[in-house]
Formats: sequence, C-alpha cells, structure tokens
Amino acid sequence: MKKKLVFATNNAHKLEELKAILGDKVDILSLKDIDCYADIPETADTLEGNARQKSLYIYEHYGLDCFADDTGLEVDCLDGAPGVYSARYAGDGHDSKANMEKLLYEMKEKTNRKARFRTVISLIEKGEEHQFEGIVNGQIIKEKKGEAGFGYDPIFQPDGYAETFAELGNDIKNKISHRARAVAALCEYLSKT
Ligand code: IMP
Repeated sequence: MKKKLVFATNNAHKLEELKAILGDKVDILSLKDIDCYADIPETADTLEGNARQKSLYIYEHYGLDCFADDTGLEVDCLDGAPGVYSARYAGDGHDSKANMEKLLYEMKEKTNRKARFRTVISLIEKGEEHQFEGIVNGQIIKEKKGEAGFGYDPIFQPDGYAETFAELGNDIKNKISHRARAVAALCEYLSKT
C-alpha cells in the first residue's frame, strides 16, 4: 500500500508540484483533504523551527505523518537577512515588489552581493522528525530583470547563469532551485524507507 503523507501548506502550486514529483510513491494529502482550515503558526526565528512547527502541528492535532517546508533568502552582507522573514521583509502585506525594493535599498552601497535561497523540509514519520535542506547560491543584482516566477526571482541570479530566476523561467528553475534540491533529498529518503 502507498504511504500517505500530509503536506502542510496552503500553497496550491507547491502541492501540485509535490504531487507530480512524489505521486507514484506517496499519496500526498492536502490540508483540505484532512479538513484542516487552521492558521498554522509560523512563529519560530529559524527556517528549521518554522518547518518543524508546521509539521508538528499536524502530527499533534491529527496524528498523521506529514511534512512542511520553509524558505528564506539569506544575503551575506546583511548577516543572513531577510532569511526567515523573507515573506514579510517590508511589512505584513507579503508584497513582493515592496520586499525587493527594500532589499535593493538596503544593499545600495554594498559590493558583496552574495546570497542564497535555502529551503528546509521537516518530515514527521511515526513520531520522528527528519529534516532536509536545499540551497541555491547566487547574487542579488542591482535592478529587477524578468517576469516569470514570484517573490525575489527578478533580482536573484543563480551561480552559473547570466539570467535571473525570473528570466530563466520555471523549467530551469525547477531543476536547480533550493526547493527542488530539498524535495530531491526528501524523495531520496522516502525511496529508501
Ligand atoms: P515560503 O516559505 O516558501 O512561503 O517562502 C517564504 C518567502 O521566501 C516567500 O514569500 C518569498 O518571498 C521567498 N521565496 C521563497 N521561495 C522563493 C523562490 O523560489 N523565488 C523567490 N522568492 C522565494
């Protein structure tokens, strides 16, 4: 019988992405599938803590095996900011344009433009937690370029490419991204168990 795992996300796009990748090995259930409409807390101050908080919430309230993810953009010259606060860097509105403008402003005088996207996935299986990480290194460029993607994609240029994530588009991004790498690590683990 196929393993069942809840993916603790409200992001329909991520859910479909994971179903496409893991679908023949694992039955992925959405929060809706388990009648969970709660606003799951994400109040930790690390990506690891937030991913764990979300997966533990499902395990503790529903007793089901599950996983959750959390991602941040970590900029070297800003000591890792915006990091765990990436979604609300410019305020609670989760406004990508405002977030990018704030980041470009904070980095106006900076010559070290190194940054990375980092995704942490927390899996809880039979009450035990396992974490998986995916990283993509790159640079924050000085002006937005490209239309595809979301979040900070127009100002993030991954190492080895002359284009931003927003110019590269989803086909390339989905092969090299932080999320793709974290999901690959999760997949590898699930295929062995
Ligand atoms: P989440 O944990 O996946 O919701 O990501 C938190 C925030 O990080 C998002 O709201 C975006 O601002 C940013 N982010 C995450 N993944 C990406 C990405 O692939 N491209 C650009 N920004 C991202």
